[in-house]
Amino acid sequence: MEQQEKALKYQELEKRLKAVLEGETDVIAKMANMAAEIHGTFGFWWTGFYRVSGGELILGPFQGPLACMHIAYGRGVCGSAWKQDSTLVVPDVELFPGHIACSSESRSEIVVPVHAADGSVSAVLDIDSEKLATFDSTDAEYLQRLVELI
Ligand code: SME
Repeated sequence: MEQQEKALKYQELEKRLKAVLEGETDVIAKMANMAAEIHGTFGFWWTGFYRVSGGELILGPFQGPLACMHIAYGRGVCGSAWKQDSTLVVPDVELFPGHIACSSESRSEIVVPVHAADGSVSAVLDIDSEKLATFDSTDAEYLQRLVELI
């Protein structure tokens, strides 16, 4: 997808999500609709959230095939994004040390931390693609804006 087309899709998605989530206070409900909208807009392989709970990441609302339900702090792409408190763009998951293969179809991935009001990481948004190098700085920039709506 061309950069401009991608940016436009994200801008429209952001408008829709702002309207849909406005006034909603339930985090799970917001995550569920955000996962559905992102997934439907781009047709990714897997789109969903893991929530920080009891010192680990636990599977939250998602779209796509079955996934691992528990991820330890610092493990895989999700646990590393949580530990580093930064967005991780992985162009080839096989080259990421410790990548957790929930599905053998997944080839590239982006993980974006979600922050609580106190600034701590409360969850991560994880998106997987069955194609290599799907995600770049445009995805990172827009997805970081989207998760602020959570
Ligand atoms: N690949 C992820 C695990 C989650 S699933 O892909 C849905 C990781 O390494 O953290």
